[in-house]
Amino acid sequence: MADILELVVRYAHIASAILWIGSLGFSVMVLRSAISRVAMPARKDTMLQLIPLANRFTPRVAISTIVFGTILYLMMGNFDPQNLFGTTWGRAMLAALILSLGLFVFGIGYVLRAAERMLKHLNEENCTHGPEVAALQMTSSRGQVVALAWGFVILLLMVVATGGL
Ligand code: HEM
Repeated sequence: MADILELVVRYAHIASAILWIGSLGFSVMVLRSAISRVAMPARKDTMLQLIPLANRFTPRVAISTIVFGTILYLMMGNFDPQNLFGTTWGRAMLAALILSLGLFVFGIGYVLRAAERMLKHLNEENCTHGPEVAALQMTSSRGQVVALAWGFVILLLMVVATGGL
């Protein structure tokens, strides 16, 4: 029974992680260059639809990754502080947890906040803040690149720790 539960939690954790880092990868490697090729009125309409959805989806899959990952960590460590903090595996997982929480806070405080501020301008009837919107787009875009690189570091930690660190 415990084995099946662990399998389900592992599946939920990896599926959420794929969606989290995958959504960042898709934004950086596909959407960013596609959107820059779209003419202004259509770009605005696309952003108006895209931002609220992305700003809901990404934090949800991030939370799911962290919650299922933490449950898996506790289960695999048998809830024993010696396994959780006293082994290389345990410390690597703890580092991953701290890095993931940091990535989550960075995503909300930097990337998502810039996108929300951009949305506010785009929703204005006759917005005259073109340069501000462009700067916010750049902030959000750069933040996504940093977040993706950050996510890859955590992924590396996961794979190395799972392989018997
Ligand atoms: C960006 C965030 C994360 C990503 C992309 C990620 C990804 C992954 C992947 C792909 C695996 C399977 C690795 C393999 O089988 O080679 C895994 C396993 C695991 N993850 Fe994460 N993870 C993330 C965050 C977390 C967090 C925050 C925790 C909480 C401590 C966590 C705990 C675990 C545990 C305990 C395993 C199983 C390790 C083992 O089998 O030895 N993960 N993760």
